[in-house]
Order: sequence, then structure tokens, then C-alpha cells
Amino acid sequence: MKQLLDAAAAERQVLSRRLAEMFENARDFHVYVDADGVGGLVALHIDLIDLAEVRSLVVRHDLRGGGIGRLLVQAAIKEAKHLEMSRVYTFTRIPAFFERMGFVAVDRAELPYKAFKDCLQCPLFPGCDETALLRDLTDGIS
Ligand SMILES: CC(C)(COP(=O)(O)OP(=O)(O)OC[C@H]1O[C@@H](n2cnc3c(N)ncnc32)[C@H](O)[C@@H]1OP(=O)(O)O)[C@@H](O)C(=O)NCCC(=O)NCCS
Repeated sequence: MKQLLDAAAAERQVLSRRLAEMFENARDFHVYVDADGVGGLVALHIDLIDLAEVRSLVVRHDLRGGGIGRLLVQAAIKEAKHLEMSRVYTFTRIPAFFERMGFVAVDRAELPYKAFKDCLQCPLFPGCDETALLRDLTDGIS
């Protein structure tokens, strides 16, 4: 999991995560595994009573384009609904991918302060080039 995240972080696609941080948040992760090991991962990180972040989404290069990314995001959304979250959000440079999963681009000012918890450790801070997207989980769409 760390290797996949590190490789994507080196390409500035996701935020780097320290190993200790990954252990602390181990229960956030959904992991896709095949015969070659970890094929993909995503994390659902709870911020507030009704708000969680979908983050650390990476699919192994050889599996990309095969629907694993969608499966992982769907798993995170399913868990968020199970936990009675009303909204999930993400920050991304590929908004079109998340729009396919029902997320909608929003002004980042719409997100609560807690959503910016990781910004200080981002190498791009304060020059963020990511889009904030929200998915309403009360819309009745699975
Ligand atoms: C983004 C990523 C997770 C997608 O995983 P994947 O398994 O290749 O995606 P899927 O095959 O499930 O694609 C689902 C849909 O999204 C589309 N899609 C895939 N990558 C996309 C991208 N970069 N931009 C826009 N749409 C994308 C697919 O065409 C597919 O569309 P469809 O519904 O019309 O069939 C993967 O490319 C990856 O790991 N990228 C590097 C890390 C990264 O950028 N993570 C996101 C950080 S926010």
C-alpha cells in the first residue's frame, strides 16, 4: 500500500502519507488485492459527524482502465452511507473521474475548515491546483 501511494505521490497525483499515519488510519482503507499483491487502494477518512473525505486513491499501473478505481470509490461511498455520512468530498486534479461517480465540483469555501487539515503538509501549499468535489449521499443514487 505504501509503495503504491509513494509512487503516485512522487508523480504529485496524491498526497504522500507517512507510514505511522497509515497505521493510525489503517481502518480507513479499502484495498483491492490480486495474485500480484496490492492492486489498488482508497481511504475514507471521517472529518465530522456527517462528512468524510475520499482520499489516497491509487490503482496499480497494469490494472488501470479496468474498473478498479470505480469499484474502490464505490466501496468508500458504500461505507460512508453505512456510517450515515451525508456528504463525502475529495480534492483532485482529475475532476472528470470523480464526476463520473456522482461528485460535483464546488467552491472550496463551501467545505468546513477541517477539510483543509492536510494542506500544510502539501508541497504545493498555498498554491493549490486541485478541484474540490462533493458527493451528496442523500440523493438516493447508489
Ligand atoms: C485515477 C485512477 C485511480 C483511476 O483508476 P482506474 O481503475 O483506471 O479507473 P476505472 O477504470 O475504474 O475508470 C472509471 C471511469 O473513469 C474514467 N477515468 C479513468 N481515469 C480517468 C482520469 N484520469 N480522468 C478522467 N476519467 C478517468 C474511465 O474512463 C472510466 O469511465 P467510464 O465510466 O466511462 O467507463 C488511476 O488512474 C490512478 O491510480 N491514477 C493515479 C493516482 C491518481 O491520480 N489518483 C487520484 C487522486 S485524487
